[in-house]
Amino acid sequence: MKTVLVTGGSGKLGAFAVRHLSNSGWDVISADRVPNPNNDVKSIIVDFRDAAQVMDLILGTDEKHTKLDAVVHLAAIPAPGIATDKATIDNNFNSSLNIFMASQKAGIKKIVFASSETVLGLPFDTPPPYVPVDEEYAPRPESYYSLSKTLEEALAKELCRWDESLGMVGLRFSNVIDPVEYPDFENYQSDPMSRKWNLWGYIDARDGALAIEKALEYQRPGFEPFIIASPDTVMRTANDDLLKAVFPDVPRKTEFGDHETLLSIRKAQKLLGYNPENSWRKS
Ligand SMILES: NC(=O)c1ccc[n+]([C@@H]2O[C@H](COP(=O)([O-])OP(=O)(O)OC[C@H]3O[C@@H](n4cnc5c(N)ncnc54)[C@H](O)[C@@H]3O)[C@@H](O)[C@H]2O)c1
Repeated sequence: MKTVLVTGGSGKLGAFAVRHLSNSGWDVISADRVPNPNNDVKSIIVDFRDAAQVMDLILGTDEKHTKLDAVVHLAAIPAPGIATDKATIDNNFNSSLNIFMASQKAGIKKIVFASSETVLGLPFDTPPPYVPVDEEYAPRPESYYSLSKTLEEALAKELCRWDESLGMVGLRFSNVIDPVEYPDFENYQSDPMSRKWNLWGYIDARDGALAIEKALEYQRPGFEPFIIASPDTVMRTANDDLLKAVFPDVPRKTEFGDHETLLSIRKAQKLLGYNPENSWRKS
């Protein structure tokens, strides 16, 4: 059985990831600054801003583990505007630097981390270069939160250049939705502007966890970013009508279905074998 450390395992996406990976045969250790609410989970309290604690955690802490095969790094302040900009970038970038550095120095060869859809240019006050957006254009962070994710991706790229056997995957998650939140989607339907900020995207937390599993299985070394979204939009209005109303001048790069996500998941489908099956439409 392979051992994986999941940082931010007490959080929203972390809870789904810990459960999914445990059910998929991984020995999972959850690490977070708050205790894991699930007593069945092997969990440890840590502050990732403290490099010494992180090194200790990665190298082996008491009876929890002696050697990690992989790290899934989800811990972060998960959006702009929750904390001050300074606290957000300090917490997120320093935590990631500590985790990436300790993992690399400990010889761990597989690191999967939560990047964010925000690096695509959210909230799209400047329109996207084309739709569906994909991984082909350079990050356009518009907040300190997004800048922290952009810097983490840049750091991952350099670490993989230093070590050609290291594989790092940055999952650019869309807005994470717990299925219990689906009734809220009714509130968006009357206004095309209500979710313009992320091109009407979302990610069902169950499929976010699936993407993490697929990224852990991805064998290629080097750094690779992937957009991870649910296969459809949050809207009943067709994409053509939404785009005519909100982004009439944005070029269309490929054909897409009426409700197909405009956050392209084609790269993740092709390279990771990520095939999300959940949708708010089925709930
Ligand atoms: N929620 C979203 O819509 C969304 C969208 C895109 C990307 N993401 C990214 O996905 C990841 C998970 O997001 P989430 O929604 O589960 O967030 P969350 O806030 O529910 O969970 C994050 C967890 O990280 C922990 N944490 C934060 N800083 C820490 C530190 N310094 N030391 C120890 N623990 C720390 C928190 O205690 C929390 O339990 C984050 O990296 C976030 O940026 C989230």
